[in-house]
Amino acid sequence: MTGALQSCNKTLLLLQICLKRSLLENVTYFVYAHFLGIHSFAFYRKSEFLNGFLMNGKVYLVGAGPGDPDLLTVKALRVIGSAQAVVYDRLVSDDILALIPHGCPRFFAGKSCKQKAMTQDEINALLVSLAQSGKDVVRLKGGDPFLFGRGGEEALKLAHAGIEFEIVPGITSAQGCGAYAGIPLTHRGLATGVRFLTGHRMAEEDALKLNWQSLADPETTLVVYMGLVNLEMIAQKLMEHGMPADLPAAAIQQGTTQKQNVLLTTLNKIAALAVEHKLEAPTLIVIGKVAALHEELQWFSDNKIVAESRYFSKNQ
Ligand SMILES: C[S@@+](CC[C@H](N)C(=O)[O-])C[C@H]1O[C@@H](n2cnc3c(N)ncnc32)[C@H](O)[C@@H]1O
Repeated sequence: MTGALQSCNKTLLLLQICLKRSLLENVTYFVYAHFLGIHSFAFYRKSEFLNGFLMNGKVYLVGAGPGDPDLLTVKALRVIGSAQAVVYDRLVSDDILALIPHGCPRFFAGKSCKQKAMTQDEINALLVSLAQSGKDVVRLKGGDPFLFGRGGEEALKLAHAGIEFEIVPGITSAQGCGAYAGIPLTHRGLATGVRFLTGHRMAEEDALKLNWQSLADPETTLVVYMGLVNLEMIAQKLMEHGMPADLPAAAIQQGTTQKQNVLLTTLNKIAALAVEHKLEAPTLIVIGKVAALHEELQWFSDNKIVAESRYFSKNQ
């Protein structure tokens, strides 16, 4: 019985795939069915037919990595190449957008701290409706979709709407920026662990609710996403809770791209220097002893280093 069901499912799936590929978009089809002595017929367009009777498309939540297109995974490259619709974020680079098949509809869902091109509800609704129209959708996000990327929220909406989805992980900016700035986040002897934090919610919500005491561990590297706006407060709180003022700290702007900038300094100076050097998003903050290794391990040839990055070799 199970075998018969499985083979029936396989045949249906094959039929669905064949129909999905072969039916033309702007043609109305006449559909006739005969079941238990009942005859029925109707006219359908392709999307109505696939949506109502055959299959929805699938949504791939894809991590595009931190910027360098060479950091895209093989799987990401494959699914982008066969996308029937793409919904992408602000941090997805032009080089990666160039990989989208010619003629494939693309939707900008960009968001930044200050402005929102689409609300999260609108993005969720767009993903569901594109999939329901029978399209295989690639939802392209900077870095990794499950790390400060709201990928979990979108996946939940898809699950609730009964839309099939896959998560394609990407290199998160902590990994990409760490590597391209020559900062090994858990260098033996300097850090026993690493914590990824968001610096963004702190402005909106009760900052004191954060466990600053537990964050203020000089043996653990802190990587702060979206931390530029609240950098002064973050550094101040960490020092108040015991982090040394001269703890190395780095700000990596547009990491892994040709525009990468690394500011290497100390915890007590980083906020003022970030303002002085007019750092802008996307910038990642790395706080901890490992940041100082940038001096010796910087390798990325296009790395432009702002003035204070010489601090350690001159002063320590
Ligand atoms: C909304 S979060 C998205 C994080 C993303 N999902 C990831 O895994 O990297 C955006 C923040 O990630 C960091 N970020 C992303 N790409 C970056 C890059 N190329 N260079 C520096 N920071 C980056 C910045 O802190 C930025 O404000």
